This record gives sequence, C-alpha cells and structure tokens, in this order.
Amino acid sequence: MAVKFDIGVAKGMLEETPANVLIINLFEGVKIPAGATGAIDIALDGMISKFVIGKEGFDGKFGSTYVLQTNGKIAAEKVLIVGLGKNKDFTLNRLREISEKVIKKCLKMHNAKKVISVLHGAGIGGFDPEQAAKMIAEGTLIGGYTFDKYKSEKQNTKVQDFIIVDMSEDNYKKAKTGVKKGKIVANAVNFAKDLANEQPAFTTPSKLAEIAQGMKDIDVRIYEKEDIEKMGMGAFLAVAKGSAQPPKFIHMKYVPSVKTPQKKIAIIGKGICFDSGGLDLKPPSSMLNMKDDMSAAAAVLGLMSVIRDLKPGCEVHGLIAACENMPGSAAYKPGDILTAKNGMTIEVDNTDAEGRLTLADALCYACELEVDEVIDLATLTGACVVALGNAVSGIMGNNQTMIDKLIKCGAAGGEKLWQLPLFEEYKESLKSDIADMKNTGSRMGGAQIAGVFLENFVKKVRWAHIDIAGTAFIEKKGATGAGVRTLINYLIS
Ligand code: BES
Ligand code: MN
Ligand code: ZN
Repeated sequence: MAVKFDIGVAKGMLEETPANVLIINLFEGVKIPAGATGAIDIALDGMISKFVIGKEGFDGKFGSTYVLQTNGKIAAEKVLIVGLGKNKDFTLNRLREISEKVIKKCLKMHNAKKVISVLHGAGIGGFDPEQAAKMIAEGTLIGGYTFDKYKSEKQNTKVQDFIIVDMSEDNYKKAKTGVKKGKIVANAVNFAKDLANEQPAFTTPSKLAEIAQGMKDIDVRIYEKEDIEKMGMGAFLAVAKGSAQPPKFIHMKYVPSVKTPQKKIAIIGKGICFDSGGLDLKPPSSMLNMKDDMSAAAAVLGLMSVIRDLKPGCEVHGLIAACENMPGSAAYKPGDILTAKNGMTIEVDNTDAEGRLTLADALCYACELEVDEVIDLATLTGACVVALGNAVSGIMGNNQTMIDKLIKCGAAGGEKLWQLPLFEEYKESLKSDIADMKNTGSRMGGAQIAGVFLENFVKKVRWAHIDIAGTAFIEKKGATGAGVRTLINYLIS
C-alpha cells in the first residue's frame, strides 16, 4: 500500500476538533497572526505571537516548522505551525510542495495518528478553496507515499487520518470536491511510482500487460510476439531478442461518453523493463537504476488507471512497447539492419540506444490510428540529464502550440519542462552508409539527436516527445511519477 492513511474534509472549529496534531500556518514576517492561526493563537493565550514568533523568532520562512504543545487549551494535543514564506510568493504549486513537507514531518512525529489541518491559502492566501484543497490532497498523498513492500518492518505507519477542517459550509463543500480531484491525481502518480520502484524481476513486459488488462472501463489489446512480427515492428522486436522475457505491445483505449470526442490522442510510454545496454553493455554504475527504464510506461499506466475518474472529453490511446534490453545469445548486434513498421531501415550503431527503436515502431502504430496528436514519454537519453538535470524534463516536437500547452500544463502540475530544438543540423550524424539511418549519432546534443531520430516515424500528426531520463527516478528518493501530472492536466484542459 503506497499511502497508509486516508484524507478527508470535516466541517467544524479547528480549536474544538480533537486531534494529535493540528496544522496551521504563518506567512513570513507576520507578527500577529490573523485568520485561523490567529484564532488558535488567542485560544492558546497568545503563545504563538508572544512566544513562538516573539521570543523564539519563528519567522514563517517557506518550509520552516514549529511544534507546540497545547496543554489542553484546545482539543488538539500539538500544533504544527508551518511557514508559507512570503504571501506574494505563495502559489498553488508552493502549497502542494508545503503539503508534501508537512506530511513527511507528521510521519516522523511520535504520536500523529489523527492529523487535522487548516485549509491553507483559502483565507489570506486568496486561493479558490477547491484548488487549495486539491493541492493539499495532492501534496499530502504524494508526500506520504512509501514503498515498503519488501521491508519486514513497515514504514510510515504513524498517521492514520488526515482531515482538512473548515467551519464554513461553502469552504467545506468546495474542499470536498478539491480533495476528490487531488486524490485522483495522487493515485495516478503513486500508481506510477509503485511500478517504477518495483524490482525488475516483478515488472516484466508480461506483468505490465497483465496490469493493463486489469483496468476497468478501458479496452485493452495485448499483441504477443507473433502479432508484433505480423505488424512488422522490426525495430521493437530486435531490442526484445536478447531477453528470455517475451515482448508485449500494449494498447489501451479510453473512449469518452460524449458523442463526438474533442480529439483523438495517443500517449506512448517507453517500456524497457530493464536496460542492461544489450551487447553494448552498460558499466555497473550506469546499469544500477535501469529498472526505471519503464518509468514512462508506468506513467501511462498510472494515467490510464484513473482516466475513468478524470473523464476527459478526448479519446485516449495508451501505448507501450514493452520488452527488456538484454545481451542474451539471441541479442541484436551492432551492425544489424532493422526494418521499422513504416519500412524505414535502421543500422544498429549502439544497442544501448534501444528506447528510440521501440518508440519508432510505437510511433508508426500511433500514427496509423489516425489520431490528431501523439505524445511520447521516455527515459530516453543520458544527454538530457546532462543538459537539464534532475528537476527538469526535456520537450521537443513538431508543433509549437502543443509544446507550449504541455509546458503550461506541466507548470500547473509542478513539473518543469524545457524545450530543446530539433534543428536540421542534428540529422547529419544519424546518416548511415548502408541503411536509411543509424540509431545513434554524435554524443553532443544527444537528446535532440534522439528527437530527430524519432521524427522519422511521425507522419502527419502533431507530435511532442518528452524526455524524462533525469526526472523519473531520483537517487535515494526513488520513482517520482514524472509526467503523470503534466499528462493529466493536458487531457483535462
Ligand atoms: N535508458 C537510457 C537512458 C537513461 C540514462 C535513462 C540515464 C535514465 C538515466 C537509454 O536507453 C540509453 O542507454 N541511452 C544512451 C544512448 C546512447 C547510447 C546514444 C545514453 O544516453 O547514453
Ligand atoms: Mn539504453
Ligand atoms: Zn533505455
């Protein structure tokens, strides 16, 4: 279980609601708190203004916290004051961030079974109560995530209930809607994280297919190896050859209940269940986290798992070409020439540039569905990590409007995307003497070279490619569910 507590909303007075921990807030520089924090301060005989702020010097800096015993003056045992930073800098994204920090803090407190919280931002912050509640739910559930399936001693079991408390009927109602929406997003993100955090022995291509097949209200078709051969996916098949695990091509389809869908969209997730590099074997340190090479597939599965709750007005096709990249005796070799689904030939220059080969066939398949737009998401290049680091994904494509919109949707979801160019010059190094192209070119500009490679397989559709190699999996933190919130916002916008 990814999150071990439930989140809800209750109508009532904060000071009268029994709890182990009450969360209130303080904007930076405020000396005499107003609103809910002011009410608690009065109930605590001015402890917050006189002692915490006055004597202790708590200044409300973004992310700072202060824990106070209430000694029976209010119904909650402890108060956790969280600094929201400067009021003028406070955004919904910051609220999500702060909610992640707060729940992490609560999970470390000794007794925090029942946590209640003020609806941050709805008062002095000036946010719409529904939006504020959505962010709190999202941040709390995403921050409260634990992957402890394989630990004998279960982690983060301290919090059992997290309840947003507000005395106004109107706020209560709006917060309920907001929490419901936030839960959907967090469920999708945590679903994706669970899959990407799993050991590679678990998340095999067959397992991903099985998970897709278990989704309610989604039409799922799984293509087996023979079907993939019949479809002519020579690039995808070549990558799968070195593994004992059979490849699966997964097609999930969501059809909206509206008569005419706004548009048709295909979303492809790179699904390399393990990337050893193939015969161009990766060194141990580079191979270590390569179970995460199906993070994009996990994101698409996470998205599809909640799509019936999101109810977007467009038709959505989730596509995954799932296989492992292994150096078994049947493995594809440098020098092999592959024929992709669209008939183009590819000389294998490096077996570790496998993702683009699987995506090539998936892109061809997507274009044949006659969709209006194709988005592919992939942990594609180390070069993208070098260029943008671990906090920013790369985005490229053939349609600026679509790219701009995706960047905006990412920003609204707290996911940073930065556009990289697909200039003509990048095509040069992919030229092959004996085939239509090679699968790798110069190391310089590697993310964009991968982008122009993919462009060869995109026909007559608006297309965007998102490279999440740096953002999908973070050392010590694990999987992040990168891309899920961007995609959700894009579909519902
Ligand atoms: N899965 C890797 C890319 C990757 C690197 C993801 C680091 C996450 C973190 C991809 O298949 C790969 O091996 N790419 C090569 C391409 C090269 C051979 C042109 C790379 O980036 O080194
Ligand atoms: Mn690789
Ligand atoms: Zn890979």
